[in-house]
Amino acid sequence: MTCSSGNELPAINRARLMADLETLATFTEPGTPGTTRRFPSAAYMSGRAWLRERMEAAGLRTSIDAGGNLFAMLPGEHELPPLVAGSHTDSVMGGGRYDGALGVLGALEVARCLAGSGIRLHHPLLVADFLAEEANDFGVSCVGSRSLAYGLAPEWLDRSIAGQTLGQALAAMGGNPAGVTAPLLAPGAFAACLELHIEQGPVLEAAGATLGAVSGIVGIRRGTFILSGRPDHAGTAPMALRHDALTAAAELILAVERCARAEPGAVGTVGRLALRPNQSNVVPGEVTLTAEIRHLEPAAIALVWNYVLEAAEAACAERGVTLQLDAHTDAEPAAPPAWLLELVYSVCHGLDPRALVLPSGAGHDTGHLAHLAPAAMIFVPSMGGRSHCPEEYTAPEHLCTGVEALMRAIIAVDRRLA
Ligand code: GLV
Ligand code: MN
Ligand code: MN
Repeated sequence: MTCSSGNELPAINRARLMADLETLATFTEPGTPGTTRRFPSAAYMSGRAWLRERMEAAGLRTSIDAGGNLFAMLPGEHELPPLVAGSHTDSVMGGGRYDGALGVLGALEVARCLAGSGIRLHHPLLVADFLAEEANDFGVSCVGSRSLAYGLAPEWLDRSIAGQTLGQALAAMGGNPAGVTAPLLAPGAFAACLELHIEQGPVLEAAGATLGAVSGIVGIRRGTFILSGRPDHAGTAPMALRHDALTAAAELILAVERCARAEPGAVGTVGRLALRPNQSNVVPGEVTLTAEIRHLEPAAIALVWNYVLEAAEAACAERGVTLQLDAHTDAEPAAPPAWLLELVYSVCHGLDPRALVLPSGAGHDTGHLAHLAPAAMIFVPSMGGRSHCPEEYTAPEHLCTGVEALMRAIIAVDRRLA
């Protein structure tokens, strides 16, 4: 079965695309809900090994760089910087099967179609599986694309989870931690970057649109807070004398909600929390939580973040709880240059007159790649706007239309930059 395509363009092989998406979804951590392929789990590693075989079976030359990024190269006609198309194959705990996977397997499908057609790009095409895009317990998201554009701070590489440092986890995925403390690439190393992704929100579906050109990607500030109080007997410690880390944390969490609600366009979340000793008859002695604020404007992120810090410091001081903030990480907001957004929109509009231009509330590797090259994204609808959950779903015809749009955008950018 194939999707429709323009006269001279090869047809996307829908059955092959869907089979690849289904096979990748079988690589999931045992005993977890939905699709769970977290960095640096065995399921993630085996999924990538399978992906590399698929790339090589398509006749593409593969490599893994120091940042653990997996690339597959389709040669171009000229010695030019490559066009890059890709996304990520890691997932959140209990995620869906399309977040990231579509962008990687869709780009592979485009490379296969082009390789089997008479069309030869001027630029080489690099199909990319960027390492560890999702937030992880090391507190560093987009490990691979950050390494390419900015490098990783040495203290991040030393952070340890369950006896393994981020540097060791990177090495286990084929990367080289010693090589990533400086940016792996300089601006201009790529001709342009394109990422196909599910929208993960409700906008396209509500408008009856099957495609979207992404106008901007939110910036994200994310930090881990440790609130240290004192564990005491829950029956004998008088209320006025307690140092309850969890009630202070509750105020911090509500401050995130209140401050983000007060700033138009901002969202704020505390999605991860652990408390000790976590025992019903002991006053909580220590809470570790991760808070994040997102917005399209860096100044708005800083404003909300500072309000949250003030509120958290006050809540802790009132209870004699100490507040420690592990160095936060920032992902800068990013937007494609006007010419590239226009090109992507015109490709989308050519396939669906209802196509929209819309911003992304999710973070993406493209946000970091935008530091290196003109970078843009194409969205397809998410049913019910659901994502980061097992219910995540996009209809096969929409997945296929997205890959068609990606192929057309790659060809149009290649011609434009040649
Ligand atoms: C990535 O999925 C993010 O937006 O956190
Ligand atoms: Mn994603
Ligand atoms: Mn995600």
